Amino acid sequence: MDVRSKSRYPEAYAHWKRDPEGFWGEAALAIDWIEPPKKIFDAKAGVYGCWFVGGVCNTCFNAVDRHVASGRGSQAAIVYDSPVTGTKRTYSYNDLFGEVRTLAAILRDFGVDKGDRVILYMPMVPEALFAMLACARIGAIHSVVFGGFAPNELATRIDDAKPKLVITASCGVEPTRVVPYKPLLDEAIKLSAAKPETLLLLQRPQLEASMVPGRDHDWAQLRAAALRDRKTADCVPVEATDPLYILYTSGTTGRPKGVVRDNGGHMVALKWSMPNLYGVAPGEVYWAASDIGWVVGHSYIVYAPLLHGCTTIMFEGKPVGTPDAGAFWRVIAEHGVAALFTAPTAFRAIKKEDPQGKLLAGHSLKKFRTLFLAGERADPDTIQWAERMLKVPVIDHWWQTETGWAIAGNPVGLGALPVKYGSPTVAMPGYDVVIVDEQAKPVPDGKMGSIVVRLPLPPSCLPTLWQQDERFKESYLAEFPGYYKTADAGFRDEDGYLFIMGRTDDIINVAGHRLSTGGMEEVLSAHPDVAECAVIGMKDDLKGEVPCGFIVLKAGVARPAHEIEKEIVTMVRDRIGPVAAFKLAITVNRLPKTRSGKILRGTMKKIADREPWSMPATIDDPAVLDEIGTALKERGLGG
Ligand code: COA
Ligand code: AMP
Repeated sequence: MDVRSKSRYPEAYAHWKRDPEGFWGEAALAIDWIEPPKKIFDAKAGVYGCWFVGGVCNTCFNAVDRHVASGRGSQAAIVYDSPVTGTKRTYSYNDLFGEVRTLAAILRDFGVDKGDRVILYMPMVPEALFAMLACARIGAIHSVVFGGFAPNELATRIDDAKPKLVITASCGVEPTRVVPYKPLLDEAIKLSAAKPETLLLLQRPQLEASMVPGRDHDWAQLRAAALRDRKTADCVPVEATDPLYILYTSGTTGRPKGVVRDNGGHMVALKWSMPNLYGVAPGEVYWAASDIGWVVGHSYIVYAPLLHGCTTIMFEGKPVGTPDAGAFWRVIAEHGVAALFTAPTAFRAIKKEDPQGKLLAGHSLKKFRTLFLAGERADPDTIQWAERMLKVPVIDHWWQTETGWAIAGNPVGLGALPVKYGSPTVAMPGYDVVIVDEQAKPVPDGKMGSIVVRLPLPPSCLPTLWQQDERFKESYLAEFPGYYKTADAGFRDEDGYLFIMGRTDDIINVAGHRLSTGGMEEVLSAHPDVAECAVIGMKDDLKGEVPCGFIVLKAGVARPAHEIEKEIVTMVRDRIGPVAAFKLAITVNRLPKTRSGKILRGTMKKIADREPWSMPATIDDPAVLDEIGTALKERGLGG
């Protein structure tokens, strides 16, 4: 059977493979360039080549100004829907244009210039989106830090990005509590060596923050003054290869990786994805239920929908509890959403609360065409449940912070391919995905291996890590020469469908959030009573995975283990943040190790997940694994 017969996908993929520069050159025509690229791809530039070299452009212009100029000014650009604060507001493209050029002028007044970094530590409010676009407008490089990270993580990012200015809000609003952001930021600045000169603060009515005189400035006051003085800033021309943003993501150590996104390639790939992968048209409503702190938020709350002239939804709430598991249906119906993109964990949460879908009643989803899932493996149960409830195609797609858009997906715009549960379908044009063994040799269909992408990577993918070319090469390019290492493992079937089975490094995926167990182990080892430790990602029905820490106490520690375990849980929350969802530390007498001293985390995980496991041949003392099983059983886990 040729499963692709009705889709234009084979044609598009073959076009790209035959003539990559022709393919992307054509896609680039959908962007307004100040000066068109001189070369579509320059293999000699950058670490592995650069896209659209010589092109001069501005991302904010393409996301905002050009829609105003072409008559889309009165169309809604952003719908802000915040059940946690009881607020709904709509901003037209005209409004967005006004807000962004005013804020850009304020940033310029503080001396923020092309190439300067600006860190954003913001909740899901429209001002966060204005701030990202205002940076893009003046050629400054934004770096958004997710609000669920603790001061220590924020400080690491401040020290790496060395921002000239930081933009924040007084608080975030979670369903059960108001989270004061400003004290977290103050603490982070105290911890950091690269102290930003200026802080722009959005005071929210739920909790006002105190200000440091001279350093901190009130956004609303500056906005009012700028409007009164009619201050605006125009778009600054930037090279296609200039960075638009840095987004930090978990690496294999506690030190996050600063993924760089350029301007030109990013715009071209995202714009291509909207009609071809997501099948949406300008003017339609697109909703990515994520957070601007993650890559999904960057690409599909902010940039792609606006580049495409869609209406984007900024939802400050959760799939459940704000107020109930019908929140997503209400938003889809009320705002006429055509496509929703979220993580499977959100649907698992809804399914758990409302398995029969009773809360769908009364919501008209007639404009809703497709549900897209990514961020973690989409389990077939969840996909099938969503299909039954919503009666629309449910499309899994696979990508990473590093790529900025899908590596594999089911391109509904080109004509959807048949769904195979458990597979995010096929490689997108631009990606030559290969499954290889440890010697970088391609393996036959159906065989598991490391998933790599033949260089060069397509537009939008990271050209490097922020000021760390060597770390970029070492982390992604060294192990499999000629390829980019995704650090995911999986296989391809005889129809070319990819199956993504898990990471090959220490990264775990907790409720669609990417976290490093190595980073958590660094925190655990810092406890004065801990001799050694291991953190594993344990299967969880709701969040996909949750971390579980095992600790061995130093000889002579007489304090009760449960006290130390509690301190450890608090330490991870304080140093990494609540987003780590680290709630379980278990004290054991020893950790299972190989004879060469390597901790057998993989086997521990299998025991915790109640999966079949075999005794590793190199184990030092097999009895230790029984001890791990017993320790888990005592907590009602594993087996
Ligand atoms: N600021 C401050 N704290 C935050 C935060 C933010 N922006 N976002 C989350 N947190 C806190 C939460 O309050 C929670 O704290 P708690 O331990 O005190 O309860 C903790 O971080 C974990 O948050 P979260 O992962 O959101 O778990 P949850 O139990 O509150 O909700 C889900 C579970 C499944 C409903 C939720 O994870 C979700 O909606 N996921 C959607 C998927 C998604 O956004 N994926 C991103 C990539 S696409
Ligand atoms: P992030 O960088 O946070 O987007 O996380 C990227 C990682 O999430 C990938 O390397 C995968 O391990 C995982 N991931 C993302 N999407 C999928 C998917 N559709 N199926 C399986 N794993 C996924």
